[in-house]
Amino acid sequence: MALAPGMTLAELVIQRPASADLLERLRLDYCCGGARSVEKACAERGLDAATVIAMVEAIDERPEPGPDVHDLRRASITELCDHIVLAHHEPERRELPRISELLDTVVRVHGGGHPELADLRRVFSGLRAELEEHFTLEEETVFPACRAVDAAASADALDDGVLALCEDSHEFAGEALSSMRELSGGYDVEHAFCGTHRSLLEALQKLELDLHQHVHEENNVLFPRVRERLA
Ligand SMILES: [Fe+2]
Ligand SMILES: [Fe+2]
Repeated sequence: MALAPGMTLAELVIQRPASADLLERLRLDYCCGGARSVEKACAERGLDAATVIAMVEAIDERPEPGPDVHDLRRASITELCDHIVLAHHEPERRELPRISELLDTVVRVHGGGHPELADLRRVFSGLRAELEEHFTLEEETVFPACRAVDAAASADALDDGVLALCEDSHEFAGEALSSMRELSGGYDVEHAFCGTHRSLLEALQKLELDLHQHVHEENNVLFPRVRERLA
C-alpha cells in the first residue's frame, strides 16, 4: 500500500517499522498519539508531511530490517504477548532499578546546583511505580486473557475496559517521558555534568525509545487485533 499523508502515524509504523527511529528523531508521537494523521501530526510540529513521507520511503530502500521487526506484522496474538514480555517487560524491568541508582547518585552530587534533577527523580519514581504495577497487571491478567481469546477458548476472557485501563496507563507513561525529556534538556549528553550523569541520560533516552515501541506494539498492534476478536 502506498504511503499517504492521510494515513495515521500508527499505520505508517505498522507498514514501515523501520520508520520508528525517524519519527523519534522528529518527535512525532506514534504510540499514544498514533491515531493522528501524518499530516496533522506534522503540522503540529511545523514539518512538511510530504517531506516526511519521502524520508520514510528513502529509509525503506535500505537493507531489510531485522526479522524481529518483520515478524510482528504476521505474529499471532499469543506470539505478540510473548514478544512484548521478552523484548520489553523483562529488559525494562531490569533497567528501572539501575536508573533509580544512577538518579540517586546524580541528585546527591549535582542536585544542589540543579534543582531540576530532584524533579526528574520524582517524575521517574512515579513512572517506575506505574510501570512495575502495569507490567504485572499485563502479565498476570491482561495477556493471559488475550491468549485465551486467541485460542478461542473464551471471548469472554476479556472485556474492553481492561484494555482501556492499559491505554490510560500508557498515556500516563507517555506524559512522564515527555516531562523527563524536558527536565533533562532533551537528553543532551554533550552537556552532561559527569560520567554518571551521561550514563543516566543515555539510559533514560534508551528507555524512552523502548517504551515508545512497547506502547506502539500494544496500542496499535496487539489491542486492535484482540478487539477484532471481541467484536
Ligand atoms: Fe506492556
Ligand atoms: Fe502496556
